[in-house]
Amino acid sequence: MRDAAPQAIYLSDYTPPAYLVDTVELTFKLHPTKTRVISKIAFRPNPEASNKTFYLHGENLDLKWARIDGAEVKANQTELGLTAQVPDAPFIWEAEVEISPETNTALEGLYMSKGMYCTQCEAEGFRKITYYPDRPDVMGVFSVTIECDEKIKLSNGNDLGDGKWHDPWPKPAYLFALVAGDLVAHSDSFTTMSGRDVALNIWVRDGDLHKCAFGMDALKRSMKWDEEVYGREYDLDLFNIVAVDDFNMGAMENKGLNIFNSAAVLASPETSTDANFERIEAIIAHEYFHNWTGNRITCRDWFQLCLKEGLTVFRDQQFSGDVRGHATQRIGNVLALRARQFREDNGPLAHPVRPTSFVEINNFYTSTVYEKGAEIIGMLKTLIGDEAYYKGCDLYFTRHDGQACTIEDWLKCFEDTTGRDLSQFKLWYEQAGTPRVKVGEDFNDGTYTLTFTQTTPPTPGQDVKDPKVIPIAVGLLAENGNEIQTTKICEVTDEVHKFRFTNLDAKPVPSINRGFSAPVILERDQTNAERAFLLAHDTDPFNKWEAGRALAKDVMIRMVTEDATPDQAYLDALITVARDNTLDPDFRALALGRPSQDDIAQALFDGGQTPDPTRIYQVSETLSQSVAEAMQDITPKLYAEMAVDGPYSPDAKAAGKRSLQNSCLSLISRIDSGALAAKQYASSDNMTMQFSALASLLNVEKGEDENIAFYKHWKDDRLVIDKWFSLQVMSAKLSKATAKAKEMTAHPDFDMANPNRFRAVFGALAGNTAGFHDPSGQGYGLMADWLIKLDAKNPQTAARMSTVFETWHRYDADRQQMMQAALGRILNTPNLSRDVTEMVTRILEA
Ligand code: PHE
Ligand code: ZN
Repeated sequence: MRDAAPQAIYLSDYTPPAYLVDTVELTFKLHPTKTRVISKIAFRPNPEASNKTFYLHGENLDLKWARIDGAEVKANQTELGLTAQVPDAPFIWEAEVEISPETNTALEGLYMSKGMYCTQCEAEGFRKITYYPDRPDVMGVFSVTIECDEKIKLSNGNDLGDGKWHDPWPKPAYLFALVAGDLVAHSDSFTTMSGRDVALNIWVRDGDLHKCAFGMDALKRSMKWDEEVYGREYDLDLFNIVAVDDFNMGAMENKGLNIFNSAAVLASPETSTDANFERIEAIIAHEYFHNWTGNRITCRDWFQLCLKEGLTVFRDQQFSGDVRGHATQRIGNVLALRARQFREDNGPLAHPVRPTSFVEINNFYTSTVYEKGAEIIGMLKTLIGDEAYYKGCDLYFTRHDGQACTIEDWLKCFEDTTGRDLSQFKLWYEQAGTPRVKVGEDFNDGTYTLTFTQTTPPTPGQDVKDPKVIPIAVGLLAENGNEIQTTKICEVTDEVHKFRFTNLDAKPVPSINRGFSAPVILERDQTNAERAFLLAHDTDPFNKWEAGRALAKDVMIRMVTEDATPDQAYLDALITVARDNTLDPDFRALALGRPSQDDIAQALFDGGQTPDPTRIYQVSETLSQSVAEAMQDITPKLYAEMAVDGPYSPDAKAAGKRSLQNSCLSLISRIDSGALAAKQYASSDNMTMQFSALASLLNVEKGEDENIAFYKHWKDDRLVIDKWFSLQVMSAKLSKATAKAKEMTAHPDFDMANPNRFRAVFGALAGNTAGFHDPSGQGYGLMADWLIKLDAKNPQTAARMSTVFETWHRYDADRQQMMQAALGRILNTPNLSRDVTEMVTRILEA
C-alpha cells in the first residue's frame, strides 16, 4: 500500500501544468495523530497547456471533503493523487485532510521531532500535507494559519501575529515550511544594502541557546557577501532558522524559514570541532544563497535540480574560499569530489549532472548533481572570465526573476552576454562519467608541445561520449624551479588537442590542471622525481599539494603490488614540507595527509588490479608508522610551535594551526604510545583538541579510561555523542569493526529513527574500509540487516546509505558474491520502498 509500482519519469515527457495557482490559504489544526489541514487554492487554466486534466498529488491523506467554487465535489482518488471535474475558468478549490505527524518516521511532509512539529517538503513532500499540484513550476502566494497550543508557530514570509503568516513571494510548494513547538530564539538583525532592516532568528530548544552565536555570525556574513559579490539583497523583513534533531539532510532553504539539521547549525567551542564550524558556516551560506539561486529563480522540474544546487554549491565554495583561503578550500573540495563524486561517476550509479530519468527524485540529491554541478559553474567562469561570468549572472537574475527555469535558460544568459556558443559546453550536463585526459609531451627546437587526448568511459545507459570542452590550466617551470610560463588556460575541445609553447631554452616541467580547473582524471607517466620537484617548486598551491598526493599514492601502490618499502624520497619530501614555515599550517597539514584506503582501492582497480582491503589497510598502517618514525625528530617541535594561546576561536588561522598540531599528535602517538595524546586530552578546553586526542589514543589502542570519561561527560549532548558513536566504530580494527558497530546498535543511546545517530554508526562502518570489507562478509551482512530495518521507517536515508555497496564491482569474486547476496537480500524484502528498490537495482545492474 505504501508505494506504487516503481515507474520511471522522463525529462523528455515534460509538459506544462494544466492549471496554475494564484493563491494558497492553508489552515493547520495541529495534533500529533490527527492534524487537520484545510486548503483554499485559487486555480486558473494554464493558457500554455494543451492537457486540461485537473490532477492534484496527494499521498497518505485522509480526505474529509472537497469543494469547487463552494460546491461539494466527489474527487476520483488514486493512491498517489486525485482528479476532479473543474470549470474551464478560474475557480476555488477547497479541501480538508487529516494527517498524522507523530507516526511519520520518513521525516518528509509534516512530522514531529522531539515534540516539535516541523516540515520537509523538498522534493515531493508537500503532497503528504495536502492535495496540491506538487511540482516546482507551479508557484503560488501562500498564507498560513497555525492553530495549536505550542508557544512558537512559524511559517514562511512575514509574521502577521497569532499564528498567521503571509509570504508575498510566489513559490513552489517544496519551499513551504511550518514549525511549531517550545522554542527560544537567538535574535539579531541585518541592514541590507538598500537600508532595510531584517530581523534574524535562530530558533532552538531551550538548552541549545548557547550554541547559536556562530551560526548567526555566519548568516550575517553570508548576507553581506551575497550583496557584495553577486549584488543580491534579501527580500523579506524576517529571516528564521530552526534547528531540528531529526532531519534527513543537512538543511533546507524554505523561503524565509530555513530548517536545519541541528548538527548543521549548532556550535560551541566546547562541543564542536573546527571541522564542524567550517561545515556549519558553509551550510548556513548555502541555504541563505538559495534565496536567489533556488527560491527567487527556481527549477522548472526536478531534472533541473543542478540549476539551483550546482550553482549554490559553487557560491558557497566561493564564500568559504573568501573567508578561509582559496588554496586549502580548493584542496578540501577536490578531496571530497574525488572521494564521493568520482566514486559515483565511476560506478553503477553514474548519471548525468542533469539526469534524463528517475524513479524516485530523492535518489538524485547526489554528489554528481551538487559537486560536479558546482565544478561545471567553475569551468564556465574559467572559460568566459570573471567579468563575463558576473554579467551573465546579472542577466539571469533580471531575466528570470520569479520564474521556474531550465539549464537551457541559464546557459542562454551566458551565450547572450558573451556571444559564445555553449552547445559543446552543455555536454557537461548531459554526459555522465569522469573524463580521462591523457597527456603527451614533446620538446623540439625550443617548442614544447602538450597533447591532450580525452576519453570518457561508458556509463549506464551511455555507451558513447562526445568530446567536451575542458579548460585545463597549465603553467611551466624551468629546471631551476623558476616559473617560465604563468597559468594559461588550454581549452581542449577536440578528442586530440595540441598546445604549443615556443621560445624555450630547455624542456620545461609542466604543471597541469592547476587549481583543478577541470574535474577530470589526468593520465600521465610522471616520475617521482618530477612529483617531488613540483611539490617543492610549483607556484600553484593546488598542484603543489597534488604532487605530494600523487607521490604518496604511487608509494602506497608500490607497497601493495611490489611489496616495496616506504620510499625514502617521499619521507624526505614530507619533512621538507612540514618544516617549511613559508607554508600555511593548514596547507602543511593537508600535505601530510595520506590517500584514503578507498582511494587506493579505486586506484588499484583503475590500474587493472583487484584491491584487497586488508592488504591496503596493512600498507596504510606501515606507511603511517614509517612517516611517524621518519618525522619523530621534528613532530614534537612542530607540535609545540603550533600551540594556539588564548581562548578558542574557530577562525581559519587558528584552526589551521590546530590541524597541523593534531597531524603531529597522531604521528607522535605511534611513537610514544599515546602519552602526549593523554596529556592533550586532559588539558584541552575545546572539542577540536579533546576529540583529536581521543581519536589518536583509540587509534593506538589506548585511552580506555578517556573513552569512558568522554561518554560520561557528554552523554546529554546528542551531537557530541554522535561523534563518539562514530569514533568507536571508526577506530575498531579490521574484523572488530563489525562487532563494534553491532555493539553500538545495542547501546541505550542508539536510536535508528534519528538519521544522525544511524549514520554515526553505519557511515563509520562503511568508512572503516578494511572493517566493512572484512573477508568474513559480516560487515556486509550487518549493513544489509540495518538498511532493511531502516527502510521500513525512513526510505530516504536508507536509500542514500545503500551507496556503501556501490563499489562492489572492484573486489574479488568472494567479496562480490557476498555483497551481491546482501543486496539481493535487501531487494527481496517485502514492501521495500521505491527509494531503496531503485538504488539497489541500479547498483546491481551495472
Ligand atoms: N535543498 C537542500 C539543500 O541543498 C537539500 C535537501 C533536499 C534537504 C531534500 C532536504 C530534502 O540544501
Ligand atoms: Zn542546496
